[in-house]
Amino acid sequence: MAEDRRRVVVTGEGPILVHGPVDVEMPDGTRVQSDRAVTALCMCGRSRRRPFCDTSHRRRVRGKEGEEDP
Ligand code: FES
Repeated sequence: MAEDRRRVVVTGEGPILVHGPVDVEMPDGTRVQSDRAVTALCMCGRSRRRPFCDTSHRRRVRGKEGEEDP
């Protein structure tokens, strides 16, 4: 049964990485499929391809002068 388990990696400041094909159910009930070997799911909320990560989490966020970027 262990071979049926998917590996899910929670990254520090980026996406959640799901190994293997996934079927993602959205809040409105629609389903989105990915057949990629590894699917990156956006956790920052800035992706334009949600639920998938588009690397927008890497972009700098404007802050006040002298303030650290998140
Ligand atoms: S986690 Fe990468 S765009 Fe949101």
